Amino acid sequence: MLGHNWRVTPDTGISVLPLSPTVGAEIVNVDISVPLAPEVIGSIREALNTHHVVFFRDQSLGAEQQADFARQFGTVTEAHPVLPSIDESPEVLAIDGRVDRASWWHTDVTFLETPAMGSILSMLEAPEVGGDTMWASLQDAYEGLAPAVRELCDKLIAIHHDPWFAADVAERGGYEWDGTWHEKLLPALHPVVRTHPETGRNGLFVNRQFTRAILGLSDNESSAILEMLYHHCVKPEYTCRFRWRAGSVAFWDNRATLHYALDDYGTAARFAHRVTLQGDKPFGPVMPRPRG
Ligand code: SIN
Repeated sequence: MLGHNWRVTPDTGISVLPLSPTVGAEIVNVDISVPLAPEVIGSIREALNTHHVVFFRDQSLGAEQQADFARQFGTVTEAHPVLPSIDESPEVLAIDGRVDRASWWHTDVTFLETPAMGSILSMLEAPEVGGDTMWASLQDAYEGLAPAVRELCDKLIAIHHDPWFAADVAERGGYEWDGTWHEKLLPALHPVVRTHPETGRNGLFVNRQFTRAILGLSDNESSAILEMLYHHCVKPEYTCRFRWRAGSVAFWDNRATLHYALDDYGTAARFAHRVTLQGDKPFGPVMPRPRG
């Protein structure tokens, strides 16, 4: 029997099981390796807008199938603006625990003018235990701030940048993203409060990895506000934690979440493929939505 919080979409047969009240839901009864019916795509999109990250278990996705799944939700980007793709596909990034471990709270590529809309991670080899990933809902975090602090954040713009990636780009003379060639990786300005373009819900949009400062504030003011927000965003009540198995897939909304991959698995193998979807220029109370 289904638990009380299962939501079954009658016309598609798929079910959505929330992992927590704020973020994360497992979607069952769908094989995402094949083209999906429009109503299934609609249900997945709705679950993503509500839960911010959705999970699928026991999938069997080759690199091309993963990119094809992503294409049903938008335009697939290059694998990464700076890091190389896998040999078989320019759209797929290897996430290999032997090379790198993303054990810090971040939102993908916010150092770009148009950060990814979403990311899809397909786990190919998982540790028996450890290597979980956590997500935090930036919209619930925003709504959990005191009204006066929300009002302050509504007025702020942040500078996002990755100086190490910028140096790599300078050395190689440019980078490609969203099908466009850029000569330099320059700092990007994003609102501290971002309005979700599909739901209209506001959320915080800062992360410790790529947000450098708040525009127009002293270093002291900027770092005090950002530190307060970084702590606030990852309050356990705004998070969920997902235990991977080979064949698990996560699809997260990069406009509304932070994530953190736990580095607690020693020398065990952890290997995944990631595909990202093209995003728009973030807008919010302090920065109007660009025209067109
Ligand atoms: C990432 O930051 O995109 C990777 C997340 C993970 O390895 O779980």
